[in-house]
Amino acid sequence: MYKVTVFSAKRYDKEYLIKSNRGNMLQFDFVHAHLSAETVMLAQHSDAICIFVNDIADNEVLQQLAQFNIKIIALRCAGFNNVDINKAKSLGIKICRVPEYSPEAVAEHTVGLILTLSRKFHKAYNRVKEGNFSLDGLMGFNLHNRTVGLVGTGHIGLATLKILAGFGCKLLCSDPTVNKDALALGATYLSLDELFQRSDIISLHCPLTNETKHMVDTHAINQMKPGVVLINTSRGGLIDTTALIDGLKQKKIAQLGLDVYELESDLFFEDLSDTIIDDDIFQRLVTFPNVLITGHQGFFTEEALTTIAETTVENLITLLAGQHSENQLV
Ligand code: NAI
Repeated sequence: MYKVTVFSAKRYDKEYLIKSNRGNMLQFDFVHAHLSAETVMLAQHSDAICIFVNDIADNEVLQQLAQFNIKIIALRCAGFNNVDINKAKSLGIKICRVPEYSPEAVAEHTVGLILTLSRKFHKAYNRVKEGNFSLDGLMGFNLHNRTVGLVGTGHIGLATLKILAGFGCKLLCSDPTVNKDALALGATYLSLDELFQRSDIISLHCPLTNETKHMVDTHAINQMKPGVVLINTSRGGLIDTTALIDGLKQKKIAQLGLDVYELESDLFFEDLSDTIIDDDIFQRLVTFPNVLITGHQGFFTEEALTTIAETTVENLITLLAGQHSENQLV
């Protein structure tokens, strides 16, 4: 039996990983803490570790893991911007991930944010509960015939395009790699600048890299149509949050839907309802009446959690047996 320390473990991680642990080949040690230089020692004596989106596997953490002779990291997510891949490679640490578990889960959440903002479901829900049936302030807009620009047409971008095509939206895309399935849906590929200039609704579906960090900054927002709707279910670092707040204050951005936030690791996935939150930028964002934020729950469906757990267990067993996995990054 191999010992695997699972960082940032929640009740649902335990439930799904235990259910997927075929033949009980893995012995999980579930740890609530995020992985960081301060917590890495919790992994000592493990054969592998399993981490999530806000665990940090940087140079210092990787060196420490190598000293503990831990040479396998299984990401139970698709994005890997939180891992120093080159350092891992140089230390001989193998990294695997779950490249595709349910693009539809994130795509449906994305469209849920768009619809909630466009038809103000969140406001209507509260009003009706209080016996207020006035429609003042609830005016929406049709998605039919709206121009939607998607940045990134990989698994999630494509799944989102399919749904939006059903609504009768005009589809624009930007991605260095053209996806034939997106073209087949009638989408048009443009440069990022053109997409920003021509879209009524912009949704981000590309990974966070050095190149894409802060792709939505003041310059980008200045190019957007007045009244633009901006959605980010990808990674918080794609947006410069300070520029975003300026864009909202200037009324350039009419509606904002976020499932991710640049500094979410100090906030998301925890119940902080009894805590004073000292992130003033996040707290400012929450005050806008036209901003809707969910706490990184795009992936959070039964189907997605099942696939994530099954693939993670499979990845771990393959790498621990010294074999190569198709889900291996290095
Ligand atoms: P994918 O790898 O299938 O697609 C990403 C696409 O982005 C690729 O087609 C790539 O060519 C494109 N891309 C790369 N650089 C670009 C750039 N500079 N401009 C435009 N496009 C660019 O990834 P997938 O599965 O579609 O996931 C996308 C992102 O969604 C992930 O990187 C992750 O950050 C995020 N995600 C969020 C979740 C949530 O719960 N909110 C859950 C899963 C993923």
